[in-house]
Amino acid sequence: MDWTSRPAGPLNGVVRVPGDKSVSHRAMMLGALAEGVSHIHGFLEGEDTRATAAVMQQLGVRIDALANGERVVHGVGLHGLRAAAAALDCGNAGTGMRLLTGLLAGQAFDSTLVGDESLSRRPMRRVTDPLAKMGARIDSQEGLPPLHVHGGQPLRGIRYTLPVASAQVKSALLLAGLYAEGETEVIEPHPTRDYTERMLAAFGWPIEFSPGRAKLSGGHALRATDVRVPADFSSAAFFLVAASIVPGAELRLPAVGLNPRRTGLLQALRLMGADIRVENKGESGGEPVGDLVVRYAPLHGIELPEALVPDMIDEFPALFVAAAVAEGVTVVSGAAELRVKESDRLASMAAGLQALGVRIEERPDGATIHGGPIGGGSIDSHGDHRIAMSFAVAGLVAGGPIRIGDCANVATSFPGFMELANGCGFDLGVVP
Ligand code: S3P
Repeated sequence: MDWTSRPAGPLNGVVRVPGDKSVSHRAMMLGALAEGVSHIHGFLEGEDTRATAAVMQQLGVRIDALANGERVVHGVGLHGLRAAAAALDCGNAGTGMRLLTGLLAGQAFDSTLVGDESLSRRPMRRVTDPLAKMGARIDSQEGLPPLHVHGGQPLRGIRYTLPVASAQVKSALLLAGLYAEGETEVIEPHPTRDYTERMLAAFGWPIEFSPGRAKLSGGHALRATDVRVPADFSSAAFFLVAASIVPGAELRLPAVGLNPRRTGLLQALRLMGADIRVENKGESGGEPVGDLVVRYAPLHGIELPEALVPDMIDEFPALFVAAAVAEGVTVVSGAAELRVKESDRLASMAAGLQALGVRIEERPDGATIHGGPIGGGSIDSHGDHRIAMSFAVAGLVAGGPIRIGDCANVATSFPGFMELANGCGFDLGVVP
């Protein structure tokens, strides 16, 4: 499915983005392992998180879907899952597969995890190596999915320092740690999102954590609880950039999750001169939330502080569009992880922006983007949801229409993106 994004604007109105993907995956997994019935409010109805729900159902968990985003998870307890009859399909979701690998390593039965073409190219040794140190047995071909996770392996806790900052790897180890004898401790080179830690605590599991460090021991129980999922900052990101670059724009994004480990783009855009205010600050399900109010402001290029990279790891495609429109040069470094996301995001963005006449120099761990006019043209999203949505944003200010190839995967993280975008002033359509 290809899209066309045409120059449009100004953008106005209130944009309610769907629930957080990271929180939705975790709520589904912990609800399934808990004792009792958990309600999830605002569950992301995306393909990634629905795949995780389907996996938990295959493992014997009853999940009722009430209305849009309302799920009732009938937890089976830590040892209540049962073997699935078939392979467990994580679709496009790296988070789903990596967290499930840790969770399944502690079960009494074998499981096989598979994914789509993109997920089948993503590195899994970063989870299988430390899990093997804990005693897990996981087979793969050259560290790529499918993963065959052997059950019945006694796990023991380890102290592990992550070589790369990754919340997925940290979370996989903590989930395996629920089943391990002794303490599991994870130390990060730079703090990453701490949803697993916060949610384990909310489900009553004793855990010690502080930025960059988490420690728990096995042998406790999870107690069912209700989870309120905040709106996904990463989905809000496209509208933050869109309103920042379209003259006359003003958008309000209500009740967006503002966990500091997610909001690096807010800081980056402000350094570039963006006008973004946070209003109605509050808390939802233990997470800071607030309304983001964003107005057009002329942007200028920056040298992005490397310390911000992990806090905006999913927002680089959107940032690159802001940088392409900004006056002057933006330099990104320390971001080699972008090469192992749903696509190689440094390569996908560089190729796409070049096709639109933007000057960009790609480096192994980043890029230098020269701001200036963006032309119309054709680009390939490489089946990557965030690349597709970023070029939809670029189309707003391009010299002509941008045709974006292969947009179906937008539904993995942001169902209804096109309707919301067109509702506030985009001119986005499906190519017949
Ligand atoms: C996620 C962690 C990040 C992020 C992904 C979601 C999570 O991945 O890119 O979209 O929910 O833990 P890494 O752990 O690979 O950095």
